[in-house]
Amino acid sequence: MAVYLDSVPFSGIIRIRDMMYAVTNPYRLDQGDVSFDAPDSVKSAIARAVAENRTHYLQTNGVPRLRELIAAKLRDKNRVTDADAEHVLVTNGGIHGLYMLFQALLEPGDEVIVPDPAWPPAAGNILAAKGVPVLCRLHEPDGWRYDLDELESTVTPKTRVLYLNSPHNPTGGILTRADLERIAAIAREHNLWVVSDEAYEDVVFEGEHTSIASIADMYERTIPVYTFSKSYAMTGLRLGYLSIKDPAIRDRAKKVLFYTASNIASIVQYGGIGALEGPQDCIEVFRAELRARRDLFYRGVADAARDVFSGAAPAGAFYAFLRINPTWKGGPGGSSGSGGDRHTPSASWAMTEHLIKQGRIGCVPGIDFGANGEGYVRFCFARDRNELIGALDSMKTLFGAVTSGDAHRPRGSSLR
Ligand SMILES: Cc1ncc(COP(=O)(O)O)c(C=O)c1O
Repeated sequence: MAVYLDSVPFSGIIRIRDMMYAVTNPYRLDQGDVSFDAPDSVKSAIARAVAENRTHYLQTNGVPRLRELIAAKLRDKNRVTDADAEHVLVTNGGIHGLYMLFQALLEPGDEVIVPDPAWPPAAGNILAAKGVPVLCRLHEPDGWRYDLDELESTVTPKTRVLYLNSPHNPTGGILTRADLERIAAIAREHNLWVVSDEAYEDVVFEGEHTSIASIADMYERTIPVYTFSKSYAMTGLRLGYLSIKDPAIRDRAKKVLFYTASNIASIVQYGGIGALEGPQDCIEVFRAELRARRDLFYRGVADAARDVFSGAAPAGAFYAFLRINPTWKGGPGGSSGSGGDRHTPSASWAMTEHLIKQGRIGCVPGIDFGANGEGYVRFCFARDRNELIGALDSMKTLFGAVTSGDAHRPRGSSLR
């Protein structure tokens, strides 16, 4: 009996999603899904694949043309100069790629260093592989980046993998090239694998995205994980990929791919070919619109709830991870919040329940991303502008009374 699976938690995001189904006319700022549609290049490639009856079993690692296109993208865009179609495994989205990898890399009890806060499925997939997530804090004043000495001191003899996620969900922090150079040195020094989750590589507003696999020798020990979900608005189609240079690890991951999926849905893979062969301007169009939505949302929060939330606008990804003013007392009547079915009472749960139940505004409590996320709440600003405006109006109604007085404004709060 796989009793260990009982201690692998479902992501809190799923629990929130279920709560949201009970809300009439909700503002779905809880889920990390873009409101955009997939580009025509994807839709027509899928339609063509259906018309041509490309509905049969395929190579386990993926359609050769897709793997070639992915390898070329890794070389040209991510500067992973050694990337080869042979290294590529096409996955059922990024989450499946992470599942495959941790199954392929870990022995029971192996430690993986994970940022705190982090996207919950990262730790969930480590636990599902009987590994041990070891948390290392990200620091808000430093743009939600590591203290790299602290990161190095988290390494133990049991550490096998560093899981990196930049741009970062939920904070939007981006690791700089200098950060990655030092992390590369730590990985070499302690002989660690690096799993580099680059799901938001195209959602960068300030600074630049660097793939750690592009740093000298790092592709030998780095496995980059990508998804079509965010760059091409293909969240429901489920398409992602890994690139693994090491043949033994690649073979292990291929076994996991085979036994979990046999191959990724044929027509979706043809959609991926359409995405990569087609015009790439959608990426820039999405990014510009996301930047406008980010600015709209932060301006709106400053207007609607300046005394309740604070935080700088993120450099990347599409989430507002906002600090809750500690003087906020948990909604009307000052309830502390139940914290859901298995959580201790927490400000972030109290705030989440208040926003969902009283304001119809979906969001995720910071504590679901790790202890270091407590005191924060995450909103996704990739929803369309009308939905964001509706949520902001609702927030204004909820917090208007609080916002009208300056008495509790936290010192040094920033909303920009
Ligand atoms: C940090 C991070 N990695 C990976 C993913 C995987 O996305 P998907 O499974 O849709 O490809 C997500 C999705 O939200 C994410 O936030």
